[in-house]
Amino acid sequence: MYLKKISLINFKNYPEAELEFSSHVNCLTGNNGEGKTNVLDAIHYLSFCKSFFNPIDSQNILHEAPFFLIQGVFDNNNEEEEVYCGLKRNQRKIFKRNKKEYARLAEHIGLYPLVMVSPADSELITEGSESRRKFIDSVIAQFDREYLENLISYNKVLSHRNALLKQIADSGRFDKDALEIWDMQLVDYGKRIHTKRSDFIKSFIPIFQKYYELISGGREKVGIEYNSHLNENEFSIVLANTLNRDRAMQYTTVGIHKDDLEFTIDTHSLKKYASQGQQKSFLIALKLAQFDFIKSIKKVTPILLLDDIYDKLDDLRVKQLMELVSSDNFGQLFITDTHPTRLSDLFKSAEVDYKVFKIVNGTTRLESPKLESTKVS
Ligand SMILES: Nc1ncnc2c1ncn2[C@@H]1O[C@H](COP(=O)(O)OP(=O)(O)O)[C@@H](O)[C@H]1O
Ligand SMILES: [Mg+2]
Repeated sequence: MYLKKISLINFKNYPEAELEFSSHVNCLTGNNGEGKTNVLDAIHYLSFCKSFFNPIDSQNILHEAPFFLIQGVFDNNNEEEEVYCGLKRNQRKIFKRNKKEYARLAEHIGLYPLVMVSPADSELITEGSESRRKFIDSVIAQFDREYLENLISYNKVLSHRNALLKQIADSGRFDKDALEIWDMQLVDYGKRIHTKRSDFIKSFIPIFQKYYELISGGREKVGIEYNSHLNENEFSIVLANTLNRDRAMQYTTVGIHKDDLEFTIDTHSLKKYASQGQQKSFLIALKLAQFDFIKSIKKVTPILLLDDIYDKLDDLRVKQLMELVSSDNFGQLFITDTHPTRLSDLFKSAEVDYKVFKIVNGTTRLESPKLESTKVS
């Protein structure tokens, strides 16, 4: 599976653009702010029905334009498949595959697996637990449809339960029966999600450690630990034990919505003790392990997006990484760089099939970015 073609209308800083890609390596070069990452984000939309960066779809419409349109043509075992994503201001997003609109976007997730490596990944280390839960969820959701459905249901039940806790506090009347109805469902969905997260982490760790070793030369040992209120105790018991606290706080204080991942380096906190270089290697290893994991389960090679890779690694490491990702184990790649030839020089000497796109934004914001491609085989 690979993306043959993408056309954009009014997407971020692209009034109109059409790009035809190589099935192997695609380099997007250009100065800062020209629109390289925006192309990656459009590709991300085709896979996940949403932006990697901005959850508010309407903000991805070109300023002042009434709508955006992203259309992709994928090659799936020599069959062409069209994916359409359109958004008019103040209307709901329309998402279609082969001209047929989805009833629910969740049905699309996982059909065109994709992994993004971005400077924004550092959030996984620096930010709160939500970003790490999102990471786990986005990996599992790509190969397990039911997981995503359970997660959506869990979150719905959770917000009902929280609303009820608030209502109980406001009215002073404790409605035990109503709470039990939400608790039963919360426990049911919560347990399923917890089991899948634990199983996933267990099989993910060795793959992740292998990649960290490959990238770093393997002097230190990295680890990931899955922390959850459900690790030690039955969810129903945990929930019963915290009822008083939940009532006082007026929201649900325990459950899988509080799960977290603890990242370690030689058993110490990665955030506190690892060097910048070690943290960056850790993040890339996480993403490449994600890639491997999805590939082995789905038997489809995901598309790999590498944004501003030189931001993360020095020249030598980039060279090693490029050798790794252009090997047969990987499929279609999209890589951005501000330097016009640094990446293509690497691929040229390695005799890898690649295309280079030079991205130049107009001097005025609404001017079309000019795209020139040079094909080298
Ligand atoms: N909705 C939008 N409408 C117009 N321009 C946008 C929109 N969203 C982002 N941009 C512009 O896109 C540019 C950033 O593009 P980006 O792809 O991140 O650049 P880079 O080439 O550095 O990766 C910025 O100039 C930004 O103002
Ligand atoms: Mg960028």
